[in-house]
Amino acid sequence: MYNKTMPMAPSSRRDFLTSSGTAVFAPAARPGRYRMALVGTGSRGCTMWGRSLLSAYREKVELVGLCDTNGKRAEAARGYIGTSAPAYVDFDRMIAETRPNLVVVTTPDATHWRYILRAMELGCEVITEKAIATDEQKCQALLDGCRRMGGKLTVAFNARHIAGAKKMKQLLMEKAVGDVVSVVYQEYLDTSHGASYFRRWHRLKQMNGTLLVTKSCHHFDQVNWWLDARPVEVRASGSLRVYGRNNSFRSSHCRVCPYQKQCPFYWNIATDEFSMRMFAACESEDGYFRDGCVWREDADIYDNSSVMVRYENGVNLTYVADAYLPYEGQAITVNGTRGRIDWMAYGGGGFRDQEFRLTRTFRKSELIPLTGDNGGGHGGADDLIKRLIFDGEPAGDPLRLRAGLEEGILSALVGIAGYRSIERGGEAVLLSSLVKL
Ligand SMILES: NC(=O)c1ccc[n+]([C@@H]2O[C@H](COP(=O)([O-])OP(=O)(O)OC[C@H]3O[C@@H](n4cnc5c(N)ncnc54)[C@H](O)[C@@H]3O)[C@@H](O)[C@H]2O)c1
Repeated sequence: MYNKTMPMAPSSRRDFLTSSGTAVFAPAARPGRYRMALVGTGSRGCTMWGRSLLSAYREKVELVGLCDTNGKRAEAARGYIGTSAPAYVDFDRMIAETRPNLVVVTTPDATHWRYILRAMELGCEVITEKAIATDEQKCQALLDGCRRMGGKLTVAFNARHIAGAKKMKQLLMEKAVGDVVSVVYQEYLDTSHGASYFRRWHRLKQMNGTLLVTKSCHHFDQVNWWLDARPVEVRASGSLRVYGRNNSFRSSHCRVCPYQKQCPFYWNIATDEFSMRMFAACESEDGYFRDGCVWREDADIYDNSSVMVRYENGVNLTYVADAYLPYEGQAITVNGTRGRIDWMAYGGGGFRDQEFRLTRTFRKSELIPLTGDNGGGHGGADDLIKRLIFDGEPAGDPLRLRAGLEEGILSALVGIAGYRSIERGGEAVLLSSLVKL
């Protein structure tokens, strides 16, 4: 049976690709099977969209090419994923030689837009990791380019698939607490997860648009989706209080650091086989230290931020995120005209301890059991989003879990408006002043 999540038959796609002025004919893909190319063979590319995807969906997905600006890592990824697909450093060459019909983008956030547009231009369906873009110009380029080309784009918002997030959507669709008036969302990142952003490229605004974009776009997307409304205006404040320049000593990376004994953030990368193989062994190509020092003075993102978002339907979101806390978690409250929902979760991506409570006005508070989270990546959400994309939703996606261009842009734009507001001393920033939606 034709499955609408499957790629179009090659004959109905643009039937040739152009690379360096040469027309090359697309090969016949086995019907109903993706020929997938992966760009960005780091952690997320190798695991979620590499080894794990292929082990579960080998019948539906064939990996035909891998690409990374670090050629050693692209080569190492072949071994880690267990594929004989060729490795490239040149994206266009990979597409021309391997003729995929699907491109998965797992590079640093600031580079997503270029690969999305180029892949679509070359006739491929695209799945991109969040965040779709890191500034307003990239958002506009994506809006204009994707709409002009009309290709299929999925933004991999796995956080929609967490059991509590789905329960929230379902209850709000049922109007269990009447009309929503306000939302309060607190995000806690601990000294392992939070610090990990400061060890890598994420510490640079030009690479990820601050944590308000790379991380919080998940949360802004959840709220946009729960409310089924567009965000209109953002005000924010934020600063860098713990990492970066906030220490008296620093080094380039932990392995060579003379302060290993006294630094609470010292991390022995040698204890992590994946990082040694995929990053330490490939450093000679690009100087990317996976165990980079969290105190580097070039960090220009915020480790704490407070954001207020006004929605078109009058709902206000108050959002607070901190990235240096003693424990991980989230505390989310939705206040409605006829009650309140509280979702509290602690203990990292797997959310070991959580409580989901529905309290209707004048009634007793009810504890709502959450089912469906499992031990998989991000509480099972990584498996569930792959199932939605590659198996399709049997009952027609009633919760509207699938996210595309508009959802990707609106979630990123809240974060972008947030950092623009911080840059402008807390001034209110209208999303419509950043892009033409
Ligand atoms: N949804 C989630 O839960 C989740 C979790 C982790 C990461 N992510 C996203 O996945 C993406 C990758 O994150 P990661 O943790 O794997 O990062 P990473 O640093 O481990 O991997 C990024 C890879 O991209 C390569 N690269 C850098 N610039 C490139 C370019 N211009 N062209 C091609 N390759 C380039 C790097 O060499 C590296 O191999 C990010 O967008 C991140 O936000 C999403």
